[in-house]
Amino acid sequence: MPETFKNWIGGDWVAARSGKTFADVNPADRDDVVGLFPESGAEDVEDAVRAAEKAFASWRLVPAPRRADVLFRAAAILEEGKEAHAREMTREMGKILTEARGDVQEAIDTAYYAGGEGRRLFGETVPAELPAKFAMSIRRPVGAAGMITPWNFPMAIPSWKVFPAVVSGNTCVLKPAELTPLSAVRFCEALEKAGLPPGVVNLVHGGGLAVGRPLVEHRRLPLVSFTGSTEVGRDIAERCGRLLKRVSLEMGGKNAQIVMDDADLELAADGVLWGAFGTTGQRCTATSRLIVHEKVARPLTERVVLLARRIRVGDGLADGVDMGPLVSAEQRDTVHRYVEIGKKEGATLLCGGAPLTDGALAKGHFYAPTVFSGVRPSMRIAREEIFGPVLSILEVKSLDEAIRVLNDTDYGLSSSIYTRDVSSAFRAIRDVDAGITYVNGPTIGAEVQLPFGGAKGTGNGHREAGTAVYDFYTEWKSVYVDYSGRLQKAQIDR
Ligand code: UN1
Repeated sequence: MPETFKNWIGGDWVAARSGKTFADVNPADRDDVVGLFPESGAEDVEDAVRAAEKAFASWRLVPAPRRADVLFRAAAILEEGKEAHAREMTREMGKILTEARGDVQEAIDTAYYAGGEGRRLFGETVPAELPAKFAMSIRRPVGAAGMITPWNFPMAIPSWKVFPAVVSGNTCVLKPAELTPLSAVRFCEALEKAGLPPGVVNLVHGGGLAVGRPLVEHRRLPLVSFTGSTEVGRDIAERCGRLLKRVSLEMGGKNAQIVMDDADLELAADGVLWGAFGTTGQRCTATSRLIVHEKVARPLTERVVLLARRIRVGDGLADGVDMGPLVSAEQRDTVHRYVEIGKKEGATLLCGGAPLTDGALAKGHFYAPTVFSGVRPSMRIAREEIFGPVLSILEVKSLDEAIRVLNDTDYGLSSSIYTRDVSSAFRAIRDVDAGITYVNGPTIGAEVQLPFGGAKGTGNGHREAGTAVYDFYTEWKSVYVDYSGRLQKAQIDR
């Protein structure tokens, strides 16, 4: 019998009020049930919001360096459990073990970074224009935050939201993706063991409509942070707009890697392979377009196809596997639908293009690494986010055209250019309309000490990670202290 897991509300592990559960299933083997999780609803959200509100009253008064102590302890606990957490993550989500370890590591790094912010959370002191008057700005926590996180980074993305929120003095209710609830349980257990007071972080499992929507619409949650699809993000933004809530959205991408004719082609091929097929293409930063200078298109394409064919696909827990399954049958069907669209649109399928069902692979949602050439910017496979192991190659004649093609998308998350020419690199840095640009590196692999997020349809102007995320989780207060002992009038008393 699979183990039954619970929600974490007000410091207690509790079943959904409905008593119902849903199953978390291994995408590499659909007979393997990882666990059963509470199928929660609005009434569980209500309990969690109440707990978060109650905890906020005292947590906001705990000095930030003391709040940070909890995060440092949680980081150490996650480090201790890293291998076990990574294995469970691969089992519930499918990404290969080394990548799952990286996901846990990203949460650990974020905990240490956020812990460090406990002794910073800088405001400014500035001169006042009047004598015997002091002026400064300070950061205040906002309140309880609703957080909705995706399945592709089951621990890293919750950490991007929860740790900065908590060190800043907020409390929260986290709704993790239904496909990866176990990693969220382990994440919360680390916080519990680290001594986080009850109700500061609450975990409510369940579906987008049953749990996500009541969170978004809850009048006593002033903050909402969402990572996921553009379609859902737009709906959340509309609802939050009506309620005048602060909302941070991190949504789709259609990331591209440019390769110029002066690039190191082996390096560029290694980069695009990692960017396109790492995490089975299921990163919002994944490389889904390769924009290559026509002079080197042929050798680069040949090398990419050669390497793509060599990728060993299988259960992410097995030795020697390079790429795991897609997270669900639905996701695999979506990928395959796009491959069919690509073929119909007239792109040339160079490799892959089909589910993999031989032997043990038949039990999971495996798909062959797929490469299309002859892709034109107007084709749907060049414009829409696929979120799977599909790479589209587009040829261009110049850097200007490369940047134009790269920017010709509704999204603007990650981007990359391979070149040995410093001016081409800096022109890309200046002109590419995206939140992240890599030079001679792939589009994936953002580090936690820099802002993460995108331009255009990828987001709504906020950033996660780095110092930028603290602007989302804190409210500025400007403070004036007049110690002159008389009424002074700004702009007038001079
Ligand atoms: C995501 O795909 O939603 O930059 C996040 C990267 C990872 C995070 C990706 N550090 O690829």
